[in-house]
Amino acid sequence: MLVNMASKAYLWSVALLSVFATSDGTPTTTALTYSEPTATSASPTASGVSVNKGKAYLTFETIPGFFLQDDPATVPSTFDYTATNFGLINRTYPTDDESSAKLTQWQRFNRYVDKLNHGSGRNVEYRLLFIGRHSEGFHNAEESFVGTPAWNCYWAELPGNGTAVWEDPSLTSFGISQAVKARNFWKHQIEVQKITAPDAYYVSPLARCLETANITYFGLEHRGAARHPFIPTIKEWLREGISIHTCDRRSSRSWIAANYPDWNIEPSFSELDGQWNGITSETSSAQAYRMKVVLSDIFENDHSTIISITTHSGAARSILSVLGHIPFSLVTGAIIPTLIKVTTVREPPPPTVTQPWTTEAWCTNGPPVASVSGTCTCSGGVLPVTASPIISPR
Ligand SMILES: *[C@@H]1O[C@H](CO)[C@@H](O)[C@H](O)[C@H]1NC(C)=O
Ligand SMILES: *[C@@H]1O[C@H](CO)[C@@H](O)[C@H](O)[C@H]1NC(C)=O
Ligand SMILES: *[C@@H]1O[C@H](CO)[C@@H](O)[C@H](O)[C@H]1NC(C)=O
Repeated sequence: MLVNMASKAYLWSVALLSVFATSDGTPTTTALTYSEPTATSASPTASGVSVNKGKAYLTFETIPGFFLQDDPATVPSTFDYTATNFGLINRTYPTDDESSAKLTQWQRFNRYVDKLNHGSGRNVEYRLLFIGRHSEGFHNAEESFVGTPAWNCYWAELPGNGTAVWEDPSLTSFGISQAVKARNFWKHQIEVQKITAPDAYYVSPLARCLETANITYFGLEHRGAARHPFIPTIKEWLREGISIHTCDRRSSRSWIAANYPDWNIEPSFSELDGQWNGITSETSSAQAYRMKVVLSDIFENDHSTIISITTHSGAARSILSVLGHIPFSLVTGAIIPTLIKVTTVREPPPPTVTQPWTTEAWCTNGPPVASVSGTCTCSGGVLPVTASPIISPR
């Protein structure tokens, strides 16, 4: 079974469904096909990420100066978005006027962003993203509990320890409290700051993100709730960077659909996880490539200004780099807002260079005696192996 799964995973390629408008304005659905490089399929140059049937591509740019998180002096590990108004800097905007004195900082900022989009031209759109990392899951708790070397070289390759399960893990009780804190903070921001809540929601398919988004946003009352209800879309490519750890393997489409029956699952989403193979790990360039794919897909098909994305630490790091944001590591449960400029360039995209996936080895006989820059030294002279144990997906 393991061999079968792994060889299938080497060959996967994915059809992305994108909606395009025909000349009379009716949307049609066209399949775009591309393959993310894996250890055996990679060519060093992938075709660039395009929109509009390959005739254009999007560029992304973070506009700094509005949030503390894009100030290099801010320390991510101790930064609390709930104690700092989401990090929104107190400042004036070109759109402030006599009426501004009665408005909150968020009302004035939201108004500024709306104004940016009026008269920005047909090739430019400004988007306000709220990028959230899921709250603490059992895999996070276990890594803290056993330490990173023992986690990477042994425990992470197992589905759990007999008590806790960290294959597509759920939130711990602390994780649930972090998501409740996020919810209460949004509630407070809506009531006190009169912030505009997101118009659209996108979520990674891993259970910890589904759970975090549900606790944070489900039933949250706000002015726009009737027009922009919380019905998230689950997108494969918002998942975490793929390693041989069992926490990176997602559950089946049926499991997700049974637990979140009212949510949208993108049409190309497969029943079983076709990406995790238990042998090779996605490289950071391959991950950045798929983040460009998913962001281009979202922005091409959804013109909402305020978009919530619930994802992972590594995925958020990759998204921020693709957006040209300075590095800002999110602690579990943190949410970072960022204002970005999306420009449509009406020509085919230039090719992109990506690195093939790499193999990872682990100790089958228990925690390692040492782990130096990703290389595990197993106890008793046992050699590390490059295959995960068999686990059955949910
Ligand atoms: C912004 O102003 C408010 C109220 O005037 C203050 O409480 C808050 O600390 C200020 N925030 C920053 C980031 O300076
Ligand atoms: C299993 O993992 C959980 C989460 O890290 C930990 O709290 C618990 O003590 C572990 N149990 C055993 C038997 O090691
Ligand atoms: C989502 O949240 C709602 C409201 O708290 C709850 O009733 C529901 O059970 C949650 N769904 C899942 C799958 O956790």
